[in-house]
Amino acid sequence: MTHAVPEQEVLLEVNDLKVHFPIKRGIVFDRTVGYVYAVDGVDLAIRKGETYGLVGESGCGKSTLGRAILRLTELTNGNVVFDGTDVAGLKGEDLRKARRRMQMVFQDPMSSLDPRQSVESILTEGMKAHGLADDKETTAKRLRELLSAVGLPESSLRKYPHEFSGGQRQRIGIARALAVEPDLIVADEPVSALDVSVQAQVVNLLEDLQTKLGLTYLVIAHDLAVVRHISDRIGVMYLGSLVEEADADALYENPLHPYTRALLSAIPVPDPVVEDSREQILLAGDLPSPARPPSGCRFHTRCPWKQQSLCDTDRPQLREIGAGHRVACHYAEDIRDGRIKPHEVKAELVGAGDLNPDVGGLPDVGSAAEIL
Ligand SMILES: Nc1ncnc2c1ncn2[C@@H]1O[C@H](COP(=O)(O)OP(=O)(O)O)[C@@H](O)[C@H]1O
Ligand code: SF4
Ligand SMILES: [Mg+2]
Repeated sequence: MTHAVPEQEVLLEVNDLKVHFPIKRGIVFDRTVGYVYAVDGVDLAIRKGETYGLVGESGCGKSTLGRAILRLTELTNGNVVFDGTDVAGLKGEDLRKARRRMQMVFQDPMSSLDPRQSVESILTEGMKAHGLADDKETTAKRLRELLSAVGLPESSLRKYPHEFSGGQRQRIGIARALAVEPDLIVADEPVSALDVSVQAQVVNLLEDLQTKLGLTYLVIAHDLAVVRHISDRIGVMYLGSLVEEADADALYENPLHPYTRALLSAIPVPDPVVEDSREQILLAGDLPSPARPPSGCRFHTRCPWKQQSLCDTDRPQLREIGAGHRVACHYAEDIRDGRIKPHEVKAELVGAGDLNPDVGGLPDVGSAAEIL
């Protein structure tokens, strides 16, 4: 697999990453009756200092990929090379040290922050675990710096999470991640649980911090609109793998994969003339279950461009079409050049057992204590 990024600039490289969760049945003996193919072969590279946006429908494996990168979930296959070291094989102290450099900001700051801990205790916990809070005066100074960096008053230190608004709690979550001076932050839907009015403030804060501290971000969202402005590059995920990856502008101006086109067509455009004339693609049916992914191209059950050959038999690889633009579709060039046209797709009825348990959405929760 070729990566679109020169080797020397890469901070994080993920190769053929797979996370398959066993499905267990049985009362006395747990039998494995199948697997949820949550992440099923992802290759990507993130450059130092860039923001990589990862998007896709709920249930397509984004959080699992983020958690696997941080080793919060065990990998079934593949490696995760962080600054030249394969963290997939690390254990004990080495893993803990590597984790300091990779932190996570969770979707729901209320459930990821321990309600019984004061903000001071939340912020110093990670610092202590990594030996960064040995000196009282330096720690106090660091706490003041952290709060000021995320725009909270010093008096916050003695308060508890429930005393803050959602946006303020997410600021605490960001300060907690920053406390251990990481290089990479995986932000899993960092604004999805917030009121629209405060989403932009938190996104702006993340951007400011990146500039000041030289951070690298993997920002996960289920909505392309959220990652559009913050991302340098964007990867689009569908049922466990990347279907397209490009510079943010190229992806918006020239989406090549039918799934990306459908996601983009779902974002309303403020200009009514453009809104009326632009391509509208409605996706038929629900996301298939990752426990029974479709054969061939995983998108073929919903793809308006699906062809008679290859689509339902051969899984397309992510390949480069144009500089830095990768797409996993057998017919990407034909679609791009208008040689094949979209057709209507009828939603296939699926049996109850085939339904994705996630439709309707499990919340993406996670806890800060996991990453110490
Ligand atoms: N710990 C787990 N055990 C079993 N299945 C899981 C687990 N975590 C996630 N999954 C399943 O993996 C799939 C991908 O989930 P997730 O990574 O949370 O998707 P996303 O973040 O894109 O919404 C879903 O079908 C989900 O139910
Ligand atoms: S490979 Fe076929 S089914 Fe898959 S996205 Fe391309 S045209 Fe659609
Ligand atoms: Mg998620």
